[in-house]
Amino acid sequence: MAVLVTGGAGYIGSHTVRRLREAGVDTVVLDTLERGSREALLGAPLVVGSIADEALVTEVCREHDVTAVVHFAAHKSVGDSMVDPGPYWTNNVQGTVHLIEGMLAAGVRNIVFSSSAAVYGSPEQVPITEGAPIRPENVYAETKAMMERVIDWYGTTSGLRWASLRYFNAAGASTDSVIGEDWSSTTNLVPLVMRAALTDVGPVDVFGTDFDTPDGSGVRDYIHVEDLAEAHLAALRYLEADGENLTVNLGTGNGTSVLEILAMTAEIHGAEVPHRISGRRLGDPATVYADSTLAGRTLGWTATRGLREIISSAYAWYRQG
Ligand code: WQD
Repeated sequence: MAVLVTGGAGYIGSHTVRRLREAGVDTVVLDTLERGSREALLGAPLVVGSIADEALVTEVCREHDVTAVVHFAAHKSVGDSMVDPGPYWTNNVQGTVHLIEGMLAAGVRNIVFSSSAAVYGSPEQVPITEGAPIRPENVYAETKAMMERVIDWYGTTSGLRWASLRYFNAAGASTDSVIGEDWSSTTNLVPLVMRAALTDVGPVDVFGTDFDTPDGSGVRDYIHVEDLAEAHLAALRYLEADGENLTVNLGTGNGTSVLEILAMTAEIHGAEVPHRISGRRLGDPATVYADSTLAGRTLGWTATRGLREIISSAYAWYRQG
């Protein structure tokens, strides 16, 4: 028996594959390798291909005796999704339909879905609960919300059993610095702060210090990627134990500001991180952080790693060069 991990060669995917294998769960990864890296799989079986290839999905499920799917494969750049939305609709939404049709044809009915807190848009109140309004503010976020709905409807029409996990801000690297995030094409804060600290690429922009937050800079819920990996193992076990279909937030419940990230990085780095105060980025809410008590109640999962582990693991990973 095995778990099929789509997009498993990516950042969160590769940390999840590693954790599943450590727990004795056999995995097989389906990934186009457009992003991500074969090396990050540490030898886990890989099929290079697309979730849109239904026949391939069915074949892989049958050949590996797949019992569940963890679905990461998606385009995930907020900015790109507003400039070139077509691939987001086809790859993220249509691709998920093909994946589900392919897995159902092989009799596989359990899926853990990689969703995002971006489906909430700018929250009316924080911490954000799973019952908060779904108001995506960009095409990427809309595709995540639509993928959740597609999965939910397949639950109604075809008996698919699912757990949708809404990540807040994934950050950090493996504690032993063996795998981590590729900073080459990211727009996310933590890798960009590390790049400003560890290379001469120039200062990182602080997108606004005029928000209604304690120090004026944006506040987010940063969650260690290894805590996220743990949550996927818990969600698989939850479905195996016939848990009800479920949507949960995955966050720490704590908000951290951009300036606090810079200060913690400077402390670990032993020197200031080159940065400059810039204007706000379009669409950035002031404060976003999770109420993740439901994940604790249903999956028995809570984040165990704090900001220091996030920053120190990211710093150690990137310092390797
Ligand atoms: C974090 C904070 C920025 C870069 C996005 C997606 C979300 C998820 C995570 C996929 C904000 C500030 C950032 C920089 C900065 N991705 N910032 N300078 O926007 O909270 O969430 O990534 O699921 O879906 O929406 O993450 O890392 O871009 O920004 O000041 O160069 O850092 O304003 O306050 P975000 P982020």
